[in-house]
Amino acid sequence: MAAAADDDTTTYDERSEYVDPDWTVVLPRRKRRKCQPKVSHPEQDVKEQQLAPPDLEVDEERESKLMQKIETSLKKLESSKFFELFLNQIQDPEVFNCFSRVLGSEPSMKMVVYGIGSIESFEAPRLQLSLVMLMKRKFEWIGDVEVFDPVLSGTETRVLESLGYSVITVNEEGRRQALKPTLFFMPHCEASLYHNLLEVNWNADMLRNLALFGNSFESYEHHNDVVKDYIASPYTKRILAARTFAEEFRVKTGPDDHCRAFYESSWLFFNPNHEQGLPIV
Ligand SMILES: C[S@@+](CC[C@H](N)C(=O)[O-])C[C@H]1O[C@@H](n2cnc3c(N)ncnc32)[C@H](O)[C@@H]1O
Repeated sequence: MAAAADDDTTTYDERSEYVDPDWTVVLPRRKRRKCQPKVSHPEQDVKEQQLAPPDLEVDEERESKLMQKIETSLKKLESSKFFELFLNQIQDPEVFNCFSRVLGSEPSMKMVVYGIGSIESFEAPRLQLSLVMLMKRKFEWIGDVEVFDPVLSGTETRVLESLGYSVITVNEEGRRQALKPTLFFMPHCEASLYHNLLEVNWNADMLRNLALFGNSFESYEHHNDVVKDYIASPYTKRILAARTFAEEFRVKTGPDDHCRAFYESSWLFFNPNHEQGLPIV
């Protein structure tokens, strides 16, 4: 049985699977604050996932420890300045209108969580899961929650299921069609996953059904503009194309130390013009 890392002090670059090829966390000696996109090349983006297969064994003691850790994260997040700002932002009419537009006449939207990471080993994924739990509690318009990350262990899967979430059993590679209003919660995922999601939904009706929490698309564009000799990968190209009709609202991280779990994240909504058609990528 693979031992679960007990992590509350573990940083991202201590475990290579948490280093996104498109994002570098710039860690000054003591503080972790500034995060910026990294120059990427197509061949880097097409990297194979070389993750160890997840540990599928179920362990009741680990389950109960994990539950306690999630409870702690939940309390920490709920009382944070970050969460206050987060709720205010969703309730701000400009953002709320975007959610209403996605909902249309439906009473709720499904939530699909991709790339949450190991909730047993790292605090950032636990804080991200806590945000999912708090959103679900606060907003009745959030429906069923489905979760997938190839690193999820048997213990993590059991805990997620006991929280009432469905764990997806096949790797969709982010290619879920938004045939109905769907909130995709994809914190710090790789560009390829956003690309796949956009590609499979590349028509006006499906794009309008999408609300996305993920890496800032504006930052991808900014990086593309300022870095000389930057070679936009095929994945980034679709993200940049989506920028032409996306509405983006940067998530404010506030003064507390949740920055690491939510840095450079945005809400994204897509409202392409039917007449103009979608850009060809
Ligand atoms: C950079 S990590 C981010 C982890 C976590 N959200 C965080 O902020 O620390 C990207 C995550 O995406 C996951 N991932 C890779 N391929 C995926 C796929 N096809 N579907 C869902 N998640 C995937 C990886 O296993 C990894 O946990």
